[in-house]
Amino acid sequence: MDKEKKILYSGMQATNTLTLGNYLGALKNWVSLYNEYECFYGVMDLHSLTVRQVPAEFRKNARSLYALYIAAGLDPEKSCIYFQSHVSAHAELAWILNCFTYMGELSRMTQFKDKSAKHEDNVNAGLFTYPVLMAADILLYQADVVPVGVDQKQHLEITRDIAERFNNIYGDVFTIPEPYIGKKGAKVMSLADPEKKMSKSDENQNATVFLLDDKDTVIRKFKRAVTDSGAEVKYAEDKPGISNLMEIYGGVTGKSFEEIEREFEGKGYGDFKLAVGEAVSDELAPIRKRYDELMADSAYIDKCIKENDDKARYVSNKTLRKVRKKVGLTELIL
Ligand code: TRP
Repeated sequence: MDKEKKILYSGMQATNTLTLGNYLGALKNWVSLYNEYECFYGVMDLHSLTVRQVPAEFRKNARSLYALYIAAGLDPEKSCIYFQSHVSAHAELAWILNCFTYMGELSRMTQFKDKSAKHEDNVNAGLFTYPVLMAADILLYQADVVPVGVDQKQHLEITRDIAERFNNIYGDVFTIPEPYIGKKGAKVMSLADPEKKMSKSDENQNATVFLLDDKDTVIRKFKRAVTDSGAEVKYAEDKPGISNLMEIYGGVTGKSFEEIEREFEGKGYGDFKLAVGEAVSDELAPIRKRYDELMADSAYIDKCIKENDDKARYVSNKTLRKVRKKVGLTELIL
């Protein structure tokens, strides 16, 4: 591994049908990071098991997310892109870290409270210890930085607490990860209700743009996007609809809000919505094309999976071996 570079770790749950929000908020920004960091990106399929999955669909979605990572521009030669469940060190370290994590701190996790309210019939222990597995993901790779959205900040904090606790007992075993502060991803809201985050599970068909939507669908959704009273394309708190569209347009084109305001001066909402729709569909078209090619080329995907799983195993096992030794587990006889 390139010791000159700092290590960056991130991932998404394997059940994500990726939305424009996931793309502009995270994935698009991951693409260029390999220059500066040694990057690891997991398809977090063990985390997805905290919710009951239909096996055949689950398997398909996880592979599809893997292909989407690559289609969106992550390079499997330059970054390590792999399946969490293929690297048994994750589950092993999670167990050990469970023994260094308190019930009290896990009970305070807001995501646990939210998710257990949502899935009252299946508040399983995995949901409770979800953050410990996430800590294991990050700490196994000695990550220096982790790009996470606001909803995962608390999980990164508990990761740091667990790592510090462990290091205090056993010496410097884990790198203490920091949140990645780089170019901020766009925060994309629902097209139907711009006060709400864009979500894959929105009931309103027009609220969410999916990464694999075709051109007509994308344009249609933007045409129907909710706007505000007034007629000016201007970023303002009392104009959540237009501000969201500007955030999206800026996220895709790299233009600042001032530039966008100038570009659409004297033009109406209709023109602007169409321009955003076009820009988004132009951005997504090559991703969809590449995705289709990848999904048709099983041999290539399999090769990427195998090589990257091996790399992830190699790196994570180094940390796991150290941890096993520190806590006093008996040596493996190989
Ligand atoms: N919990 C994260 C999410 O839902 C996914 C995740 C699992 C993750 N392990 C991680 C993200 C480690 C960053 C680092 O978004």
